[in-house]
Amino acid sequence: MTQKPLLKFDYADSLLEETGISQAQLDDLYPRLQTIRDELYAVDLPAFHADAVVPADRQPLDAGFMDLPDRLLAAYDEQREASELGQILKTAKRIRESVDRVVVLGIGGSYMGARALMDACCEPYYNELSRADRGGRPRIYFEGNNVDNDAMQGLLHLIRQTNQDDPCGGRWAIVVISKSGGTIETAAAFRQFLGALESQLGKEALPDLVVPVTGASGKLADFADAIGCRDRFLVPDGVGGRFSVLSPVGLLPASIIGLDIMDLLRGAWLMNAHFQTAEPRDNLVLNYVGVNHLLERHRQIDIRVLSVWSKALETTGLWYDQLFAESVGKQELGATPLTVVNTRDLHSRAQQHQEGARNKVMNNVVVESNRCNLLEIGEREGNPDLLNELSCKSMVDLMNAAIAGTNEAYRGDGRPTTTLSMPAINENCMGQLLQMMMLATVVEGRLMGINPYGQPGVECYKQNMNRILRTP
Ligand code: PA5
Repeated sequence: MTQKPLLKFDYADSLLEETGISQAQLDDLYPRLQTIRDELYAVDLPAFHADAVVPADRQPLDAGFMDLPDRLLAAYDEQREASELGQILKTAKRIRESVDRVVVLGIGGSYMGARALMDACCEPYYNELSRADRGGRPRIYFEGNNVDNDAMQGLLHLIRQTNQDDPCGGRWAIVVISKSGGTIETAAAFRQFLGALESQLGKEALPDLVVPVTGASGKLADFADAIGCRDRFLVPDGVGGRFSVLSPVGLLPASIIGLDIMDLLRGAWLMNAHFQTAEPRDNLVLNYVGVNHLLERHRQIDIRVLSVWSKALETTGLWYDQLFAESVGKQELGATPLTVVNTRDLHSRAQQHQEGARNKVMNNVVVESNRCNLLEIGEREGNPDLLNELSCKSMVDLMNAAIAGTNEAYRGDGRPTTTLSMPAINENCMGQLLQMMMLATVVEGRLMGINPYGQPGVECYKQNMNRILRTP
């Protein structure tokens, strides 16, 4: 396998004399970035593997995500079905073949990665398609990520219906994901959906149709014991929620809907190899961090716009917003991430991005190929909309013109821009992208003197909510 990732990062449009940064500033930062990268492998990873004591200033330390893809793939090579990956594949196949619908319950890091993978790699209207058009895979829904009564009722209503063409007679399953096992949104939803499943299919169906993904102990682990769940998976120790997409948290749902999780992990493996070995100047991760960090430091650019030029990547952007915000938004520091989907949001946000406060960098994510045949504008008799002169232009031509035109407009006004290019949206490229963003977030945290792991600030609302609920 080549060690060169397929993603490319171009930051030429951020090298702006008056409003951006210079290559010299980036060159000066490389030694520091290299030291941080090397420390991740010399301090964080060995500490995670219990070969060293975790220094006090690095606690909590959830560095387990770093080499997780490599470990999962190596274990699968050695032990096949007995390995964790082998078990995920086996359970996913069982669920895939025995139900029409799957409800994934989880919040934050416990569902956003799976959602991103589904939206990126499945057909756009996956759930609307027939079973045959879905490749024989069940429909999938996400809940437990809110306490919205009507939204939950809506899904409960839907799940009780049986479609004529459902080969499994309307059977459905629950994948309930919570690392702590105590998150109230997920726990409250689990009660609802468990009750619905029980009343529809009987108590005896539950052990086969409820698959928990949780920590070794906790309320959800106890609940799973009480149900007698046939299969269950661990959120590994040392892998934090928002870094868990390439653990069973993301892999099980992805595999249930038929995604190639081996290729997903191979993509992440490739990014790991690149990150660990490439010189800083050629290193995608370090350049992405360096450019964004310097813009913040020298130009007070503290809004990071992730500008995705594909609808399929919207929830990948939301996954990244959560990863970045919860990791580096601490100690009154940390830029604000914001995902926009273009060209859609050019009609809602571009005005501000072009002429508003100079506190934004546009980080484009551009996909270089399409899955489907190209749609052309085509001829229309009478030319009512005057588009006949563009009749041979395809949607891709329109998209490319919009990307080039937008970049030119921002360049003309000295608005810093970068572009991350993906050759395609598939499992391998998604593995590269997700791993790149997780590594970049950790590097940036260390660069800012912020521990990227843990989320102490979120505890406050949880405690207040609990107190309010329990006060008579
Ligand atoms: O990144 C994180 O740690 C959080 O977003 C968690 O994933 C989220 O709070 C859900 O936690 P849990 O999996 O314990 O239910």
